[in-house]
Amino acid sequence: MKVLLESVEQVEELLVAHGYIAERSLCTAVFLALRLERPLFLEGEAGVGKTEIAKTLADALSRPLLRLQCYEGIDRQTALYDWNYARQLLHIRLREAGKGDHEDESWEERVEKEVYSERFLLRRPLLQAISTTPAPVLLIDEVDRSDVEFEAFLLELLAEFQVTIPELGTIHATEKPLVILTSNRTREMHDALKRRCLYYWIDYPTIEKELRIVTEHVPNLAQSLTRSLCLFIQRLREEPLYKVPGLAETIYFAQALEALHVRVLDEAVLCDTIGCLLKYRDDLELLTGEQGRARVAHLLAEV
Ligand SMILES: Nc1ncnc2c1ncn2[C@@H]1O[C@H](COP(=O)(O)OP(=O)(O)OP(=O)(O)O)[C@@H](O)[C@H]1O
Ligand SMILES: [Mg+2]
Repeated sequence: MKVLLESVEQVEELLVAHGYIAERSLCTAVFLALRLERPLFLEGEAGVGKTEIAKTLADALSRPLLRLQCYEGIDRQTALYDWNYARQLLHIRLREAGKGDHEDESWEERVEKEVYSERFLLRRPLLQAISTTPAPVLLIDEVDRSDVEFEAFLLELLAEFQVTIPELGTIHATEKPLVILTSNRTREMHDALKRRCLYYWIDYPTIEKELRIVTEHVPNLAQSLTRSLCLFIQRLREEPLYKVPGLAETIYFAQALEALHVRVLDEAVLCDTIGCLLKYRDDLELLTGEQGRARVAHLLAEV
């Protein structure tokens, strides 16, 4: 059954009901993406909930989720479609084995037509996205990792929502998928791509949002401890770190504290569990040593 959303409030309620906490501005962007049938381009630091919102929306809207994970060197064959060469070859062999002497010249043409039919087509996420009903949620994840050529190809697809396969013709999307693109900004995406999308920057969460998310994910942790750890992480994000902890790290940290039956966040606990939050040696060194420990004590005193 298709879920129709009539207002921004409904988007907010639906996301919360599926465990995703979003500010009104993000809910508005989602609402508009659905209403205007425009792709939503989400940028933000690592672990702020870019991928998760696409998963949650698919779940909440009862639509299939199609995920295209981008990487350097990703090409059309991986993203759009390919032919099943092994099966095509087998088919040709079988046809050859059954070939009688009376076959005329059109035999080759017929076999070629057979092997380039839907039966041997491997639909990759982008083709699936325009030929699946109900219209899916298409997550084009970490698009900034792909090359500029691939970005240009995406542009074409997002503008038309149609694909031409030389051997089969043009396939149009009957219903447009909800497209969510995410980027960690390892490179700046082209203006032309952004122009076709609604843009939203997901920032690190406010203390209120982070508290709600941690409470949702680790409900059994004492509320006072949840508050201390969230405040601590908020302060930590102001430190000159190479890699600031995202929400994913906050959740791991809360889970670690629960697993260790910690009651109070102090220096000793932090020393043993800091690996949940910081993943770079330089960052760890910033908080160890004499100066680092004084810094930690100062941060902890504030929470
Ligand atoms: N708004 C939110 N509400 C509930 N949970 C959230 C929210 N944002 C993030 N999370 C949790 O944080 C985790 C990390 O989020 P997610 O993987 O979506 O981050 P990301 O922005 O895609 O990061 P990356 O850039 O590293 O891929 C998720 O597993 C999810 O559980
Ligand atoms: Mg992600």
